[in-house]
Amino acid sequence: MKNELEQLKEEFLKGLEDVSDSLGLEDLRVQYLGRKGRVPLLMKRLPTLAEDVRKEMGQLGNEVKRTLELAFTETSERMQARERQQNEQAQWIDVTQPGVRPELGHLHLTTQAIDEISTLFARLGFVRVRHPEVEWDHYAFETLNMPKSHPARDEWETFFIGDGGRVEEGEKGKIVLTPHTSNGQVREMEKGQLPIRMININKTYRRQSDASHVPMFHQFEGLMIDKGVTITHLKGVFDFFVKEFFGQNREVRLRPFHFRFTEPSMELDITCGVCLGSGVNEGVKCKICKEGWVELGGAGMVHPNVLKAGGLDPEVYSGFAFGWGVERTMAMKSNLNIDDIRVLYRNDLRFLEQF
Ligand code: PHE
Repeated sequence: MKNELEQLKEEFLKGLEDVSDSLGLEDLRVQYLGRKGRVPLLMKRLPTLAEDVRKEMGQLGNEVKRTLELAFTETSERMQARERQQNEQAQWIDVTQPGVRPELGHLHLTTQAIDEISTLFARLGFVRVRHPEVEWDHYAFETLNMPKSHPARDEWETFFIGDGGRVEEGEKGKIVLTPHTSNGQVREMEKGQLPIRMININKTYRRQSDASHVPMFHQFEGLMIDKGVTITHLKGVFDFFVKEFFGQNREVRLRPFHFRFTEPSMELDITCGVCLGSGVNEGVKCKICKEGWVELGGAGMVHPNVLKAGGLDPEVYSGFAFGWGVERTMAMKSNLNIDDIRVLYRNDLRFLEQF
């Protein structure tokens, strides 16, 4: 038995040397010192020994047990210290190191332009509103002095809402995707609050798609109505907008035109951002404008019939209106050279990320 005890001790100590982690160590402890471990099993044989050796063996057994326990505790502490250190090294983080920044998106170019436009008009007291995109013929045409089947309607390349060729009719006529923001004019008058200084910015739709047209685009419509509003107010607002939006070096001009809902009507031009109005760039005719001016959009004094349709007396009130395309206006900023406007809505990040 003495030999067996010695052997157990040696095997255990040898096992301790070979063990590589605390799990293995625990296994070893259970195997030798656990309730059914090899040492207790051996000790169970004590009562079968002759009385004279029993005592001696009992003492020796206890000694061996203590030796093993001591060796186990030492190894275990050493191992725990080592594992703690390894963990600390593996889990250590340098809190002063710069982090990985998540990629930030940004607003779409058109949204940025809408924000800029509405902020500029807010400085003149124009309130941003949104009138419906899905609209009745009544507000898109009829009340704008374009009675049913008037040929002027053709210019607006309208989408009608319907089903299998049948056009949906509502309370106020056919239902259309509004082809311009002018539908907001009479709607704004119907609110019955005067004076009016509105800037209606919204999506508009026309059956057109080419390098300078998208079927869904945006317009911003200004409307100012009060007693004594004249064309000089329109000119003043236009000057302010153009110089703030495009730059102080740009000039404006009003060119006679025709719209059914304004009288007089005009188109507003601004000097070209490339040749600044000279019509000549690097010694040759400017390729962008050919004659120094580029067209921004339509405007005019609100037609008496439109005022009447909105419940206002044209003898008392007057006003001006203008309606320009957001995409067009933004593409005309001298630093943006967009040769195909459709790229705005192709969701191509290589394009969008640049702005
Ligand atoms: N609605 C017109 C268009 O889409 C522009 C316009 C607005 C003209 C207001 C005059 C007054 O072309």
